[in-house]
Amino acid sequence: MSQHSALSTQHSRVETLRWRDGRLELVDQRRLPARVEFVACATAEETARAIHDMVVRGAPAIGCAAAYGVALEAARLQGATPREFAAGLDRAFETLAASRPTAVNLFWALERMRAVVKAAAPARPADIAARLLDEAHRITAEDVAANRAMGGHGAALIADGMRVLTHCNAGALATAGHGTALGVIRSAVAAGKRVSVIAGETRPFLQGARLTAWELAQDGIPVTLIADSMSGHLMARREIDAVIVGADRVAANGDVANKIGTYMIAVLARRHRLPFYVAAPLSTIDPRTESGAAIPIEERGAAEVRGHAGIEWAPAGVAVRNPAFDVTPAELVTALITEKGVVAAPDRGKIAALFK
Ligand code: MRU
Repeated sequence: MSQHSALSTQHSRVETLRWRDGRLELVDQRRLPARVEFVACATAEETARAIHDMVVRGAPAIGCAAAYGVALEAARLQGATPREFAAGLDRAFETLAASRPTAVNLFWALERMRAVVKAAAPARPADIAARLLDEAHRITAEDVAANRAMGGHGAALIADGMRVLTHCNAGALATAGHGTALGVIRSAVAAGKRVSVIAGETRPFLQGARLTAWELAQDGIPVTLIADSMSGHLMARREIDAVIVGADRVAANGDVANKIGTYMIAVLARRHRLPFYVAAPLSTIDPRTESGAAIPIEERGAAEVRGHAGIEWAPAGVAVRNPAFDVTPAELVTALITEKGVVAAPDRGKIAALFK
């Protein structure tokens, strides 16, 4: 099986990113669920724009896309002199690194690509370009494998009949396939458990309403959509049994940055004595970030809060805050589900042990 076909068949029904005819194709997540359209990227700059504009989103998918962005640029420059090639690649790394600040998978993937360039020197540009494309394929295939392993470990935490609340989209659409939080649910369902999902709509960008609801429906997994403000009520009524979310960056002490609203859910889960699980591969854990306080939080434009899809419901010019992520302290995390296993009550020591 060629790398290309391996990439295209590892997904069940949802194809997030694929390599076709020397270009990176991304399902346009701004258009889902109304339209399933692909955006093609041929350069690092186009890939960085696609990440910034949320064509592709979700920490692991951002990392895979960025890796392909470097490979695209290397292929484009392979006829250049070694000096021009190196300068062009440096610019590509910078442009991609500036696309979004919070998901650490972006920087993790770029570091892996940099290591390939370093190890390959002084090879010819065309050889380096070929090695970079191989590495991008590898990062993508490893992500699917990590998600499947995580799914296997996490499924053990899900009892038959559970009603699971999730937030944002931590599914196949946020990864190279299978998903992190939704991967755990997929694996539990594959193991014969009846699981129903309650998806928070995830204001302001509506990843839960647009993406999670659509992705689960594609797989025939029962899903009920709620507005974000309804989760406390449902917990109080004992209509939620557990929470599973993904992460954009887990700090060395176990603090978790994830989509804005996650912290609120974690506090509610503790109040109602419900387990709060975070599913995240090691590529999302950043041992160099000491604690959640040091995680850069992306602040996005006001238009996302004032309205959606061209409709404005707030008074024009009203002041807006739009932090895209929040930090859940480690003490509120019941367990971290990784490809290496389940880490109950994560702390600095247990996180460090994952990397030994
Ligand atoms: O702004 P987004 O849509 O990129 O945010 C995505 C999330 O917060 C996800 O929960 C996170 O990246 C985990 S994805 C497996």
